[in-house]
Amino acid sequence: MAPISLNTSYLSGFIREHELSSVARQCELAAKILEDRSGDGNDFLGWLDLPVNYDKDEFARIKAAAEKIKSDSEVLIVIGIGGSYLGARAAIELMRSPLYNSLKKDTPDIYYVGNSISPAYLNDVISIVGDRDFSVNVISKSGTTTEPALAFRIFKDLLEKKYGKDGAKGRIYATTDKARGTLKELSDREGYETFVIADDVGGRFSVLTAVGLLPIAVAGCDIDRVMEGAALARADFKADFEKNDCLKYAAVRNILYRKGKSVELLVAYEPAFAMMAEWFKQLYGESEGKDNKGLFPASCIFSTDLHSMGQFIQDGSRIMFETVVDIKKPASDRFIEKDPANLDGLNFLSDQNMSLVNRRALEGTVLAHTEGGVPNVVLELEDTSEFSFGYMVYFFEKACAVSGYMLGINPFNQPGVESYKKNMFALLGKPGYEDAKAALEAKLGR
Ligand code: PA5
Repeated sequence: MAPISLNTSYLSGFIREHELSSVARQCELAAKILEDRSGDGNDFLGWLDLPVNYDKDEFARIKAAAEKIKSDSEVLIVIGIGGSYLGARAAIELMRSPLYNSLKKDTPDIYYVGNSISPAYLNDVISIVGDRDFSVNVISKSGTTTEPALAFRIFKDLLEKKYGKDGAKGRIYATTDKARGTLKELSDREGYETFVIADDVGGRFSVLTAVGLLPIAVAGCDIDRVMEGAALARADFKADFEKNDCLKYAAVRNILYRKGKSVELLVAYEPAFAMMAEWFKQLYGESEGKDNKGLFPASCIFSTDLHSMGQFIQDGSRIMFETVVDIKKPASDRFIEKDPANLDGLNFLSDQNMSLVNRRALEGTVLAHTEGGVPNVVLELEDTSEFSFGYMVYFFEKACAVSGYMLGINPFNQPGVESYKKNMFALLGKPGYEDAKAALEAKLGR
């Protein structure tokens, strides 16, 4: 059975039946353009067939590398940013735990660096690693991104000091382009084990490549099941609109956007989903936010954020709709015992599992927010298993691509990301940026 199903029953006051059927045709057309590979950015569609068409030899090498890291390292340092970071962390927190590093386990702790330029954060990770054995997985498709390159310089040095140049070599795993970029050149020169991010798979669509799979496997997750889940999604989401929840989700988003909703709030009731929401935000934000168009992707974890953002959602500007991820089976449950004294008055919650209390919170909130004028679409997710994760990744990726084509933008580029980099390089005095530096310094009044 499919691990995701879309519940649109709470949308009845917001979207009429005929609206869905009229947008259905546009949605199917967008999906056809995607499948035909005839749309903008069609040289970045490798992710579409990845679940069935991946390099089996490399997949075996990923598993072998994960086993080696598990056997010789107490800590794995994952270096990457954006699409070269979020997927792995999202997966590990969802399938294992957001408290993964603190759990009793027989797999290495995993820390993520190179996702900011904060020296304080980097220093904290270095001190947490201490004198434990560690390995590094440096991930950068371009092989030139400043944040991970800087972090790698520091961790490479730490490894070489601890294990010597040869010893360090056996503890560095580089995931990068097959031919281009500084990281590839360095890896070839130094003899690191490398994994390839194919040319036709963009960063934010790369979680089902070595980018995500190596750290995921090190965390003890079954990457075969991840790929099987994605493969089922690939097959399921080729169906006609009426039987295709992925296309329906894209259509619903598009209709609500056209009705003036400018924010999509992705909501889940499990803290384990928080990084998955970060992955979602990058996927949709970087794909759709172009040409002055696009839904702004935001996220909340409930009931936590009902105590901070709940007021705004219920009662503030009517700018948003919610996509609620309803995880049917939490990773574990807890029975609430009756307390004979009942001093806290909470016996009305007892004699049942805590997950049921969480479920009632979800149901009550969906009804309250809907009544408050916030459209709610519910994504029912079976569980947080590897299979469901793989299925969900493909669901969101395909819905994102279809949504982008419906919006008339190229979902696979990110021209806007370059602007900050140019200014930062100029201000740092990178060779070739001299003129820009003078102009920026003047603007800063220096
Ligand atoms: O999705 C994207 O393309 C970006 O988020 C990149 O993944 C991110 O900028 C990191 O790039 P790279 O992997 O080249 O270091």
